[in-house]
Amino acid sequence: MQDVLLDVQDLVVHFRVYGGYLKVLDGVTLQVRHQERVGLVGETGCGKTTTMKTIMGILPKPPGVVRGGRILFKGRDVLSMRPQELEHLRRSGISMIFQDPTAALNPVFTVGEQLEDAIRYALGKRDHASVREVALSALQSVALPDPPRILESYPVQLSGGMRQRVCIALALACPKELLIADEPGTSLDVTIQDQILRLIHRLAEERKMAVILISHSLGVIREWTERVYVMYAGTIVEEAKTGELFARPLHPYTEALMRCVPKLTGTGIAEGIPGRIPDYFDPPSGCRFHPRCPHCMDICRQRKPQLFPVDGDHRVACFLFGRDSHG
Ligand SMILES: Nc1ncnc2c1ncn2[C@@H]1O[C@H](COP(=O)(O)OP(=O)(O)OP(=O)(O)O)[C@@H](O)[C@H]1O
Ligand SMILES: [Mg+2]
Repeated sequence: MQDVLLDVQDLVVHFRVYGGYLKVLDGVTLQVRHQERVGLVGETGCGKTTTMKTIMGILPKPPGVVRGGRILFKGRDVLSMRPQELEHLRRSGISMIFQDPTAALNPVFTVGEQLEDAIRYALGKRDHASVREVALSALQSVALPDPPRILESYPVQLSGGMRQRVCIALALACPKELLIADEPGTSLDVTIQDQILRLIHRLAEERKMAVILISHSLGVIREWTERVYVMYAGTIVEEAKTGELFARPLHPYTEALMRCVPKLTGTGIAEGIPGRIPDYFDPPSGCRFHPRCPHCMDICRQRKPQLFPVDGDHRVACFLFGRDSHG
């Protein structure tokens, strides 16, 4: 793939727990090009946030253990970076809007104190007036009314939508090349969520940033991304251009995900996917989806399918497609 900004290859991450390890990420492979908007979907617990935290170098270790794989950001190996290099990466390379804005903001400091701290950290500016100016313009850029008042407020004094905007301002106060947006605005009502997504889209265009958008909502992914990765139980099972994936989902899991979306014009309630995401302590052999798959074959229990190109950029990890080509 040309023009790659982020290249994750075969990432394996486990968590140490009482009595052993949770084998959560089982070889995640994904790429993001400069200025590309990429979506990541998959059921709760499939490892989306774990993947992103590892990319940012903020996976808590312990209990997290990186067992294998490679993460290259602009060709530089993130997993072997020293602490100062990782700091530099977060200062100027990648930023993340976290899933839970209340957890991302500290309740005992004002928004101003937190925002100004972040700006000082990123830009190294000492002079109070210039830091405050950057903070005010960051709040303005996320369309928050009355920025001086917001700077004086504590997080608890703001609404959920305002807090989410403050988090975006925090993430975007300083120029970055990649923004990871983990379920932005999911806990808010759909109109606010839509405003937040528009805002992220506009800022990404203005600043020529690439975006990884994580969402449970296939509608959101369809509207706001150019390419999609589908994740199941710690592996990427399918990737394609967004339009292509929705027109022609190939992996049985992707198909099932799409059937879960209630259709206004359809025949009633969506079906859901029988079964549940596997136990990471003792995950299924071969393809991790096989116990829930209606097309399961012998080989699926024995071997893990690799991502296999079906048509150009459309790749799928399933023995139903090109099974002879899998290594
Ligand atoms: N610090 C940790 N210690 C132990 N297990 C963890 C830890 N962090 C995550 N996990 C486990 O890793 C798995 C993946 O979690 P992760 O948060 O990456 O999922 P997710 O895809 O982001 O889910 P959601 O859609 O609900 O946000 C879960 O089973 C979770 O319990
Ligand atoms: Mg998550």
